[in-house]
Amino acid sequence: MVSGIVNMHLEDGVAVIEIDNPPVNALAQPLRAALQAAVVSADQDPSIRAIVLIGAGRNFVAGAEISELENPPLEPVLADLLGRIERCSKPVIAAIGGFALGGGLELALACHLRVATLDAQLGLPEIKLGLMPGAGGTQRLPRLIGSEAALTLMLSGEPIAAAAAAESGLVDRVVPAEALREAALQAAREMASSGTPIRRLCDAPPPAPATAPFLEQQRKRAEKLSRGLVSPARMLESVAAASTLSFGDGLALSRRLFEECRVSDSSRALRHLFFAERAAGRIDASARQIGRVAVIGAGTMGTGIAISLADAGIRTDVIDPDAASLARGRERFVAHYAAQTKRGRCTEEAAAERIARTVFEQDIAAAAPADLAIEAVFENLAVKKQVFADLDRLMAPHALLASNTSYLDIDRIAAATGRPGSVLGLHFFSPANVMKLVEVVRGRDTQADALATGAALARRLRKMPVIVGNATGFVGNRMLQAYGRESQLLLLEGATPGQVDAALESWGMAMGPCSVFDLAGLDVGYRARRERTDLPSDPRYFRVADLLVEAGRLGRKSGAGHYLYPDGSTRHDDPQVQQIIEAAARELGIPRRQITDAEIVERCIFALIFEGQALVASGVAASAADIDVVWINGYGFPRYRGGPMFHAGLLGPAAVQSTLDRLARDHGAAFWTPFNQQ
Ligand code: NAI
Repeated sequence: MVSGIVNMHLEDGVAVIEIDNPPVNALAQPLRAALQAAVVSADQDPSIRAIVLIGAGRNFVAGAEISELENPPLEPVLADLLGRIERCSKPVIAAIGGFALGGGLELALACHLRVATLDAQLGLPEIKLGLMPGAGGTQRLPRLIGSEAALTLMLSGEPIAAAAAAESGLVDRVVPAEALREAALQAAREMASSGTPIRRLCDAPPPAPATAPFLEQQRKRAEKLSRGLVSPARMLESVAAASTLSFGDGLALSRRLFEECRVSDSSRALRHLFFAERAAGRIDASARQIGRVAVIGAGTMGTGIAISLADAGIRTDVIDPDAASLARGRERFVAHYAAQTKRGRCTEEAAAERIARTVFEQDIAAAAPADLAIEAVFENLAVKKQVFADLDRLMAPHALLASNTSYLDIDRIAAATGRPGSVLGLHFFSPANVMKLVEVVRGRDTQADALATGAALARRLRKMPVIVGNATGFVGNRMLQAYGRESQLLLLEGATPGQVDAALESWGMAMGPCSVFDLAGLDVGYRARRERTDLPSDPRYFRVADLLVEAGRLGRKSGAGHYLYPDGSTRHDDPQVQQIIEAAARELGIPRRQITDAEIVERCIFALIFEGQALVASGVAASAADIDVVWINGYGFPRYRGGPMFHAGLLGPAAVQSTLDRLARDHGAAFWTPFNQQ
């Protein structure tokens, strides 16, 4: 029997059912239907003694079809299909190569024996999408390996290798990859001829429940690592049911709990990001080859970018004419690898290799052989234009020139060169070797293949590229300006930095805005606000931050900003800051009042939504999903909320509009007018 996605061959009385649903054999409805038909026909065929399930490509089955999760399950539902496989009257053997993940592992659990290759990876990653195993895994796995081991696998979401799986009893035999099919056939023949009763996990005795201290520890871990998700508590409940309910009742309960996870906002948010992040940075053009890169500027950003390039195995020249800056940059670079080796994150050899392939030089002529230059010099248009003119003169015609500018106009930088089509922005975030986001900025003349190359490079650096338009602050910083503006107004109106940060952090932001600005350095924004002519002239605009800078409080680096940092990193409220804020409010005639946490969250998050809408409307952001990817990967927006625009979608357009109208009425239309229309 051959259906394309499921092929069945008969070999010596054993039906080998091959799953062939590229790229990863996801359990989409057509595959489930074909698999059911194949298994039923093999079960009913008296000439067949046993059944082997095997993946046609490199993988067994890597999981559910995620796009199907938006709707209620289609028949045949996976749990029913697995029940049918488990009830087969003849032995069913899972032959596992590559990935057996999620529904794929649940499928293997419904089989009567599991043979895996040495390089197989088995896991239940549902938690990463805010889900739980929904097809009997929570009932079968504890019966096979015990409640605690089952919970550990489910709550971590990380796959384990075949050897570890064999140790726990999850797989029965481990064989070299090339021997998989034969070993599974052999096991099938043995089981069929031995006549020993088939071992079905649905008939296995209930497992001992997890101990109270274990559960307590897992609960705490989940609160920290899986914040905002509804699935960890439901996994715990479901696995507990394996010990107390019959298999059938436990299965019914787990299906109900799975459904609660599936329709939860947090799972919908994570599924949205799964697709948004895969789509981000995609452009219909082929990337140019990048063998060698030059980083111009050995400061904070240049050094961080050089670390990312070195980690990706790319030969890099870091160029800075200032000998002292160059030496400092190289020291930071080398110290980074010393720390990595000390922490065991990098071997001595790997560190030495990375250091050797990154050369620090003073002369910009060293950029000549590179395929791409990434400029990270001072944020000053004249300086950048000079650097780009030099690079244009020195570098080969195919080479790309990218700027890491935060706010400057890519078109004006490109105008300093004779190749504006090959000029783009590659906007990294600080610390550049850690932060995932890279805004790939499209100038007026930037060619599609230049953007594709920028995005491909970002992926090679294991980062998340988002293609954005050339508007001041691009997408991320433009929204940060609106968000920061609102948080600063709240300070003048009566909130404290501690209250603003705590309210947004308990809503889910990784770090509140006052702490973010303190970390970035308050002087950076201060200088930018003085140089830019496009900002609101309202005297309240970033008033507190400006006064702090004028009082010598530059943020963490000077030990004081919105807070005091006695040890350099822990924030402490400072009564002096309160005095500065209160004096500013008096001077501006702003009456101070009690501000609730709800108001803080609403005004700051709606500032993001409002600015985000304007960015989509003006085309600076290609989609609302891109904005979510930017804020999740660059600004510590909570993943379980899916990003500001996804959050707005959950609230609904009518509710969003009426809140925006109210904010404009209560707080003045000026700030609630999109930034690009001010
Ligand atoms: P930085 O002040 O730490 O480093 C700038 C470096 O450029 C200095 O080492 C300086 O000696 C060097 N430099 C100056 N003129 C040069 C020239 N003509 N040729 C080569 N090198 C030259 O500055 P940072 O923070 O690294 O910023 C660099 C760029 O990255 C700026 O455009 C900034 O707006 C942008 N950026 C900064 C972020 C941050 O958080 N610090 C985040 C994202 C972008």
